[in-house]
Amino acid sequence: MSSAVRPSAPPSAPPERRAAPGFRSVDRPVRAAATLPGWTFSDPSLYAEELRRLFYRTWTCVGREDEVVGPGGFLTVEVGGSGVVIVRDKEGVLRAFHNVCRHRGTRLVEECAGTGLSNLQCPYHAWTYDLSGQLRGAPHMNGVENFDKRDYGLHPVALETWRGFLWVNLDPAAPPLSQHLGALVERARPFPLERLRRAHRVTYEIAANWKLVLQNANECYHCPGVHPQLVKITPYTSGEEDIHRGPIFGGWMDMVPGAETLTPTGRSARQRFPGLSAEDLRRVYYYVLFPANFLAFSTDYITLDWFQPLGPDRTRLMFDLYVDRDEPDPAVDAMDFWETTNRQDWHICEMAHLGSKTVAYDQGRYSTEEDTVHAIDQYYLHQMGLLDPARD
Ligand code: FES
Ligand SMILES: [Fe+2]
Repeated sequence: MSSAVRPSAPPSAPPERRAAPGFRSVDRPVRAAATLPGWTFSDPSLYAEELRRLFYRTWTCVGREDEVVGPGGFLTVEVGGSGVVIVRDKEGVLRAFHNVCRHRGTRLVEECAGTGLSNLQCPYHAWTYDLSGQLRGAPHMNGVENFDKRDYGLHPVALETWRGFLWVNLDPAAPPLSQHLGALVERARPFPLERLRRAHRVTYEIAANWKLVLQNANECYHCPGVHPQLVKITPYTSGEEDIHRGPIFGGWMDMVPGAETLTPTGRSARQRFPGLSAEDLRRVYYYVLFPANFLAFSTDYITLDWFQPLGPDRTRLMFDLYVDRDEPDPAVDAMDFWETTNRQDWHICEMAHLGSKTVAYDQGRYSTEEDTVHAIDQYYLHQMGLLDPARD
């Protein structure tokens, strides 16, 4: 049966890790709260639980619909180390499956992307699946007791699209994507998401826990010291948060007078997106889609971060920069700006990781510039069930 797989129940945290006081002190009003305990950034059992409770049960934006080209086009991605293959079937319908053969579990498709697939054939013993996931060929299986090919189709993965962005969710009971996007749908409306073309993609590997990378993306308290270039265009205390309800958190920063967008000069040779209000033209919007994505909207380009945890101590980050599909300018200046900013961020995240896992660090406090980090940390604890009295 081509049934969906449900991530198994998370293991209980070891007793010493379930000690609630550390977590309870995070779950206070922000001015009285303490930050996440240091051990949460390097604990292997907590990390395994995060994959099961968070990353395997959320919508993850993995790229754009047009990356899967024509019938037989495919894309492979990893969600928390679990492989997914996305294909366009003969009718042009997008489908997603676990990239796992039902015989002995071999990864089916190795390539990152391609075209012209007529079926999915396992490279090990040649079990062959059609593009709707049904098992069509299985050599030397005739005469095997109670074996019916109809019971061994590929496990499906939930897939949806939103204005050209492609999303998958490993949870077979996944709620609709619209529920995940919530208030972001309205906020993103003025931006021409359907018309985007990817101008740049850079993949980074960061020697830091994914939560440190996510926290860093949600405060500009660090900006004066870490990003001298960025604060010249968007002063670090500018702007406001307007969406505080998990899984979406974020708001905007204001550009200094005369700045048009986030580039090293604040200028741009590109057209502003048409239809933006005077307000939108002075702002850069940033939203985290907990736990795996971060979207930023500038006046002439959009960026998408995809956080891919590789282990408690390591995070891969795929950074995409999109412009309007008819925009001739290659947006090298925008990418230069973010390449500099990203490298500054990853370095400081790695420094934070090194310190947070030492015996010297327990918990800190949130500044008045870190309300969103606190909101995300609280949301994290609730989603993880770490505040349940039953776990005390
Ligand atoms: S593992 Fe795929 S055919 Fe054997
Ligand atoms: Fe930063």
